[in-house]
Amino acid sequence: MIRLIYILIIVFSPTTWGADDGALLFNGNCATCHHLEKASSAPTIYEIRKRYIQAFPNKKDFVHYMSEFVLNPSSEKSLMLDKIQKYGVMPQLAYERDVVQEITSYIYDGRIEATTK
Ligand code: HEC
Repeated sequence: MIRLIYILIIVFSPTTWGADDGALLFNGNCATCHHLEKASSAPTIYEIRKRYIQAFPNKKDFVHYMSEFVLNPSSEKSLMLDKIQKYGVMPQLAYERDVVQEITSYIYDGRIEATTK
């Protein structure tokens, strides 16, 4: 039993997450609002990625600034004031920092796959 728990801890610990987990986490936490192609209640993830890559070509900066926004959204931190005018500021959702960093790093890598459209 103890061994099983140990294995589960390793499997689910953030340090062992890979790209597939980024996809799962993105789809579970963000894709309900951020669709891939068609903006409905929020900008598409491609539009967001493009805007952030232009401002932060370096992955470390990209992950840092996007994560800071997601953890505590505000117009002061926004790169997309036009979208805030259109949709209102993104709601603050109680995400863990590790999870958000995993997701934003996945967005940077750009191999975003949909499980929802
Ligand atoms: C309940 C809907 C909703 C969910 C869930 C959601 N967002 Fe958003 N998000 C929005 C809306 C609306 C905007 C546009 C307004 C804004 O920029 O604040 C936005 C904007 C953004 C922006 C652009 C910020 C800027 O510079 O203005 C980023 C980056 C972002 N979301 C990332 C994420 C990530 C990553 C997740 C999942 C962890 C997520 N969002 C989940 C609604 C959502």
